[in-house]
Amino acid sequence: MLNKLTNLTKLNKNSTEEVQLDLSRVPNHVAVIMDGNGRWAKKRGLPRIAGHREGMKVVRKVVKRANQIGVKALTMYAFSTENWKRPKPEVEFIMKLPEQFLLTYLPELIEENVQVRIMGEKEGIPSYTLKAVHEAVERTKMNNGLILNFALNYGSRYEITQAVKRLSSDIEQGKFTSEEVDEQKLGSYMMSNEIGDPELLIRTSGELRLSNFMLWQLAYTELWFTDIYWPDFKETDLDQAIYDYQNRGRRFGGV
Ligand code: IPE
Ligand code: IPE
Ligand code: MG
Repeated sequence: MLNKLTNLTKLNKNSTEEVQLDLSRVPNHVAVIMDGNGRWAKKRGLPRIAGHREGMKVVRKVVKRANQIGVKALTMYAFSTENWKRPKPEVEFIMKLPEQFLLTYLPELIEENVQVRIMGEKEGIPSYTLKAVHEAVERTKMNNGLILNFALNYGSRYEITQAVKRLSSDIEQGKFTSEEVDEQKLGSYMMSNEIGDPELLIRTSGELRLSNFMLWQLAYTELWFTDIYWPDFKETDLDQAIYDYQNRGRRFGGV
């Protein structure tokens, strides 16, 4: 167990480089673009789905570590609105993963006080996938530990479009006027509004782009990229990302 009474705690006891995390300044919300499953598998001469299976285990490890060091919410990009372009068998495999993940790890998540959430377009997601996730959301909604928010069939432009549609409809119904619309109001229609904006975004696999992920919420987020493929991502890599985050100067436009 980590000693939460001291601010500076040495982590990565087994790694050559020790990283000192300031546990009083851990980001509340970390968002992760879990990328590189296919390339991880290809490098090993395995089918792409083997990478997705391996990637699932990493989600568990990262959730555990994040919870341990005091992160309040983790948003994990699991499937984008653009990922339907992939071969059907791969999409089907990915859509079976939430069910598998929860079947294996839900008891553990409950024990660890994790709250499971989902954000994304429900339409198109197979019913067995939704059923598994909704059950997990139901069974963990009384928990008050780490929020594990899965972005499933999520696309930021879709999210913003939906937000604008619902906001306009509320204006039409006379709930408020267009004059009253400000950033906070529009933001309140976004799917992750309750959780707040991420302070830190991690993207694995070396790609330097956002791929339609949380464009509204990432306005002032610290971006952290690594070449590591998602299935190779370790707890110590999360520590490293948070350590780097803690050593950046966030100015929010100021000086
Ligand atoms: C990320 O890994 C997982 C999903 C997008 C579902 P990829 O499947 O994109 O892996 P690469 O980028 O092809 O290596
Ligand atoms: C982003 O990865 C989506 C997820 C990780 C779920 P992609 O692999 O789909 O992104 P691109 O196609 O490289 O931009
Ligand atoms: Mg990819």
